[in-house]
Amino acid sequence: MESIAVKWDRAYADSDPVNAQPCAVLAENSYLLPSQGLALDLACGLGGNACFLAAQGLVTEAWDCSGVALAKLKQYAGTKKLNVSVRQCFVGAECFVPSRFHVIVVSRFLDRSLCDAIIASLVPGGLLFYQTFTLTKVNEKGPSNRDFLLENTELLKLFAPLDVLYYRDNQRIGDASQGLRNEAQFIGLKQPKPLE
Ligand SMILES: C[S@@+](CC[C@H](N)C(=O)[O-])C[C@H]1O[C@@H](n2cnc3c(N)ncnc32)[C@H](O)[C@@H]1O
Repeated sequence: MESIAVKWDRAYADSDPVNAQPCAVLAENSYLLPSQGLALDLACGLGGNACFLAAQGLVTEAWDCSGVALAKLKQYAGTKKLNVSVRQCFVGAECFVPSRFHVIVVSRFLDRSLCDAIIASLVPGGLLFYQTFTLTKVNEKGPSNRDFLLENTELLKLFAPLDVLYYRDNQRIGDASQGLRNEAQFIGLKQPKPLE
């Protein structure tokens, strides 16, 4: 595990959070966000999602194993007065507390063993925004390790307990220079508890 953090620390050594963008599924569907609550940017890197969520008024946690990325994010969020707190950890199911987050965002990270904990960690009425790389690609972009690549429609299966508000994966159909390629997008809603 240590070597993963070292690898990512090196990757972030020359990067600046000012250039970090929210993932498209979040930015393009931000009208779904609640006006307040607690959000998580899981495997946040430089925190493009975290800063976006905080700018929307959500108290935001940003988790990642890279101390370099988190140090840069913490400093950047401080200068922008964004309510982002960072947590350095190797994410495992034990990191999650049930019914805690109103919003969870995961982009360009996949650990299938976390899915149940992610669902449990949403409050009833909470939203999951997910966007990551697919096995069906039109070019070499993204990881080559199959463990980190989604099968066709896999996000729908991994998060089947959630109501699907949005799903997109254009696979290799049609004009491959257009549309969403190499990645899938998903927004899921944890149904609020029925009224007694
Ligand atoms: C491809 S980057 C994506 C970063 C960010 N979510 C984005 O979309 O720009 C993957 C991130 O996952 C983090 N990561 C990888 N394995 C991890 C683990 N086991 N626990 C915590 N973070 C991890 C890396 O440090 C890196 O920041």
